[in-house]
Amino acid sequence: MKRLLETLVENNREITKKGNLASYIPELLNADKNDLGVAVITLDGKVHSAGDCSKKFTMQSISKVVSLILAIQDNGKERVFEKVGMEPTGDSFNSIVNLEIKQKVKPYNPMINAGAIATTALIYGVSEEEKFEKILNFTRKVTGNNDIDINKSVYKSEKLTGDRNRYLAYYLKSNNTIDGDVEDILDLYFKQCSIEVNCIDIAKFASMLANDGILPWSGERVISREVSRIVKTIMVTCGMYDASGKFAVHIGIPAKSGVGGGIMAAVPKRMGIGVYGPSLDKKGNSIAGTHILKELSDELDLSIF
Ligand code: DON
Repeated sequence: MKRLLETLVENNREITKKGNLASYIPELLNADKNDLGVAVITLDGKVHSAGDCSKKFTMQSISKVVSLILAIQDNGKERVFEKVGMEPTGDSFNSIVNLEIKQKVKPYNPMINAGAIATTALIYGVSEEEKFEKILNFTRKVTGNNDIDINKSVYKSEKLTGDRNRYLAYYLKSNNTIDGDVEDILDLYFKQCSIEVNCIDIAKFASMLANDGILPWSGERVISREVSRIVKTIMVTCGMYDASGKFAVHIGIPAKSGVGGGIMAAVPKRMGIGVYGPSLDKKGNSIAGTHILKELSDELDLSIF
């Protein structure tokens, strides 16, 4: 496996040149565009990795999986999907089109920004600090890494420039889709997006989803089988935004990307995969990371379809 992963990184390193770093969160421009790494955790708990796997990056939209899980655990699936839909959009992740022009009060799904802000708003806690601790502690538990923390510079950078998300959140509030203080909800959303991980961390998270909610290395159940199933299904249909259909056809693995360059992919009953390559394609997905997943899927016959 290690040899295969090393070859995939070598073969796809050049592709990093064809994409671009995310620039709308200025701090993300500090990443190294050539970085590329991949990690695989099989369900016996073994870790295989190659390339830039110790490099840290912020979860960004991968954190939307965390907020979806916690929102369902706190509220039940019925209440969550009363507030957020479960349909793909075909529009970009930060699109306002569906909400405003199509007069949709309910965001299409929990993986676009509007939907994620709505799920984050549903997480229970007596204070914003408690809610963030909950998100952080869950991420630490599921990755088996207690050192995971927030990247404060990325958090501040996004908070300073996140006006589009501000627009989405105030719009949701004006339609009573979210309750509470909009700035507090946004602050929590910006913080969860700024949690810093590496490839191995997200591969571990994915291995839990692949294992139906049980941590492969300890046998501990952290989410129910049903929540794990719901999350993987939404990852297939919406996890790669308006590239989700193409990704499903060519790669066929439930996956979630983030503009920090990570992709978390869960192959049911087989393995968790984490890739990192901050050079992104036009849809905001890691360009070389997507190629690595394609080749890995072909090589190991990983498509679920
Ligand atoms: O809200 C944002 O725009 C970012 N914090 C996250 C967006 C993101 O990762 C989209 N991913 N491909």
